[in-house]
Amino acid sequence: MRKKQKLSKISSSVVTTMDMKEHFELNRDREVWLKHYSSNHQILLVGEGDFSFSCSLATRFGSASNICASSLDSYADDVVRKYKKASSNLKTLKRLGASLLHGVDATKLKQHTDLNCRRYDRVIFNFPHAGFHGKESDSSLIRKHRGLVFGFFQGASRMLRANGEIHVAHKNKAPFCHWNLEELANKCSLVLKQCVAFDKKDYPGYENKRGDGSRCDRTFILGDCSTFKFHVAKELYTEKLKWRQVKGGESKRECTKRVSRVSSEIHSGELGRISPRERTRFPYRYTKESPERHHLLCQTVQAN
Ligand SMILES: C[S@@+](CC[C@H](N)C(=O)[O-])C[C@H]1O[C@@H](n2cnc3c(N)ncnc32)[C@H](O)[C@@H]1O
Repeated sequence: MRKKQKLSKISSSVVTTMDMKEHFELNRDREVWLKHYSSNHQILLVGEGDFSFSCSLATRFGSASNICASSLDSYADDVVRKYKKASSNLKTLKRLGASLLHGVDATKLKQHTDLNCRRYDRVIFNFPHAGFHGKESDSSLIRKHRGLVFGFFQGASRMLRANGEIHVAHKNKAPFCHWNLEELANKCSLVLKQCVAFDKKDYPGYENKRGDGSRCDRTFILGDCSTFKFHVAKELYTEKLKWRQVKGGESKRECTKRVSRVSSEIHSGELGRISPRERTRFPYRYTKESPERHHLLCQTVQAN
C-alpha cells in the first residue's frame, strides 16, 4: 500500500519503468512463452538482420540470458551501417544479457570457437537467403540458397540438446518451395516435425529484412510462409553410428547394446547431471569407452 502511494508521486514514465522492473523480478523464475519459444530454452539465432527477432523474444521474456543472437554481418561495418534500428536492438539485447556474435557463417557453426561446445534447445534461421544474384527461379541461385541451408543444417544438427529443434522460417510458394528444405534436412539426419504458419504479428517489433543489396534495410512481402521445425531422426543417427562402429570391427549386436546402455545412462540421469564438457574430459569414468567412441556416443544420445 505504502509502496503504491510512493509510486503515485513519481512521474508516470518512472512508474512504468519501476513497474516493469518489479514485474520482471517477480517473473524471473517463471517460464514465459512467445509462440514456439520459451524463456527456459537455450536459443541460438543465426543470420539475423537488424536483430529485431531476437529483440522481440528477449523483450517478451524480460531477459536474454538464454539467447545467443548472431549475424553474418560484422558489427561496425555492416550491421549498424545497414540497418537503422540495429544499434538500438543490440543495445536492448545487451542490456537484457544476450550473447551477441557477428561475422558468424551459418554454414560453419561447428568451426566457431564460441559455439562449437554449446548445445541448444532451439536453433533458428529466419528466412535464410544467399543474396540477390538474379531471378529467384534461376536454378543456379536456387542451388546457392540450398547450399546455405544445407550447410546450416549440417552444423546445427550437431548442436542440439535432447529434444532440441531447428527452426527455419521460409516461404511456401514457388520458387522458394523448390529449395526443398525437407530433403536437405534428411541428408543431415533431420526430419520435419511440424510446419506452422509464420505470422509476423506473433513477434512484436520484428521486421523481416531483405538483408542484401542497396535496399537491405527494407522488409519483403512474406505472403504464405511457415516455420519449419526439424529434429534429429533418432533412427537415422543411430544407424549411422552403428555403421561407423561396424566399420571399426565391432559386431552390430555389441554396438546396439553399447548405444542403448549409454542412452539409458544419460536418460536415467547419471550422465545427464554432468556437463557435456566433463563427460568428454573424463570419458572412462562415465562410460568406460575410448575417448573417440565416448564422444560419438554422447553426441548421438544427446542429439536424440
Ligand atoms: C532475407 S535476410 C533475413 C534476415 C533475418 N533473418 C530476418 O528474418 O529479418 C537473409 C539473411 O541471411 C543472412 N545470410 C546469408 N548467408 C549467410 C551465412 N552464410 N551465414 C549466416 N547468415 C547468412 C544474411 O546476412 C541476411 O541477414
